[in-house]
Amino acid sequence: MSLDRFRDERGFLSRAGEVAERIRSLMDEGGKFLVICHVDADGLSSGAIVSAMLLRENARFATRAVGEFEDALRYLADLPASYIPILVDMGSGYLNELSKLSLSRPIIILDHHEPIGPAPASVIQLNPHLYGINGSEEVSGAGVAYLVAKALNEENILLSPVAVTGALGDLQDRSDGRSLHGFNEKIVEDAVKAGLLRVEEDLLFYGRSSKPIHVAMASTMNPFIVGISGNEANAYSLLTEIGIRVRDDDRWRVLSELSEDEKRQLYNGILKYLASLGLPPSMARELIGKVYELTMEEPWTYLRDAREFASLLNACGKTGNEWLGISIAMGGRGALLEEAQRVFEDYRRRLAEAVEYAMRDECRQELKNLLVIDGGGVIDDRLISSVASMLSSMGVQGDKRILVALAQSEDSIKVSARSSRKLVEMGLNLGKLLAEVAELVGGRGGGHDVAAGASIPKTRKALFLLELDRAVEEKLSGAR
Ligand code: C5P
Ligand code: ZN
Repeated sequence: MSLDRFRDERGFLSRAGEVAERIRSLMDEGGKFLVICHVDADGLSSGAIVSAMLLRENARFATRAVGEFEDALRYLADLPASYIPILVDMGSGYLNELSKLSLSRPIIILDHHEPIGPAPASVIQLNPHLYGINGSEEVSGAGVAYLVAKALNEENILLSPVAVTGALGDLQDRSDGRSLHGFNEKIVEDAVKAGLLRVEEDLLFYGRSSKPIHVAMASTMNPFIVGISGNEANAYSLLTEIGIRVRDDDRWRVLSELSEDEKRQLYNGILKYLASLGLPPSMARELIGKVYELTMEEPWTYLRDAREFASLLNACGKTGNEWLGISIAMGGRGALLEEAQRVFEDYRRRLAEAVEYAMRDECRQELKNLLVIDGGGVIDDRLISSVASMLSSMGVQGDKRILVALAQSEDSIKVSARSSRKLVEMGLNLGKLLAEVAELVGGRGGGHDVAAGASIPKTRKALFLLELDRAVEEKLSGAR
């Protein structure tokens, strides 16, 4: 496993320089590029970083965002010979598939997923795992893309906030009290030094200096607080119950102006509320952490808070508006931003409904090592990954089980699984397990140790779950 590798940050950075040089010489030879990125927030951030990098150099390129690796393969198969593909936030997990393509031109991969299989000769790859740096936690696809962009041209330091956004989109703040750590800290430092980012410890409600407190609470989807997330009226009642003054005469107060005492009171009130629902207090701890504030963005937009920015990108990616997300991450504002904010608000409403539906008993199925939430045909398969992340942020599966969320699309079932730190420490690699079990039932899967996904044939659901449960049991019985 990659973590056994000797940690070599210098080697990683120097490889970023080499990859940048290769891109430079391909550009000088008149090469055209096809940037292919993943549709989630980190993917769109990565795609935007590489696109902005190429744009700055006046290179010719096109950018496509894809939901599944199969779609990337289709683009590669049809790609005119004059184009050089750059896969970002994807590719390393599918090296075997790429080696079957027998492309004569180089393929550039800037990824943080764990590499599976040896890289074919045509692949120019930058991946932190190959340097003993944990790509699941310490640097995202956007971070990897950013390192290459910065090595190519120092001015690309302007893209550092987008790299921070990508890392938060991939929940890389999870394992360290909701703050970015490890390699990501270097990127945060770049952004702070460039005057583009301010980092502060606080309650992590969205819009903490721009929205009335109850609106900020209702806007917060991560962690998802049942009854409050997506529900302003309930948030308002809870605040009144806790005794927080929400208005100053005729003006709504915002979270950032609460005194330390009031913040404590609010936090304790939420703890009580969670306990009344039988939810773990650990969830409230998810509400405290570092706030990453993009200082050049207008305070009343969704772009000011990097977590919110990431959620906006995620919403764009999950609703077929990936071009919109990439444009925003590349710096597009004005009407584009207005449109993206509309997309985001609508998405948030639908997501809150989906999570509430997923919490119903009828969706729930328990196996020894799995908590299965089956959204059937009711939950949109494009929402299931976010639903899984929300439920997991609520700790619904406990720390000894895997959360497996399912949603049916036209011809297959989309699987989104989330593990816990504890299981990862016990040696369970969810991405690898899902890859194996999905393949066993004729599907395809992969991902990280804590978060992974798959797509499986519609008729194989029961078999897939049983096999996954068995595979987890086998892994854990060795570790217990
Ligand atoms: O879709 P979801 O967000 O649950 O996926 C979690 C992780 O699993 C992502 O990093 C994604 O790239 C990976 N994944 C994969 N193959 C799939 C589905 C997801 O590698 N078929
Ligand atoms: Zn990623």
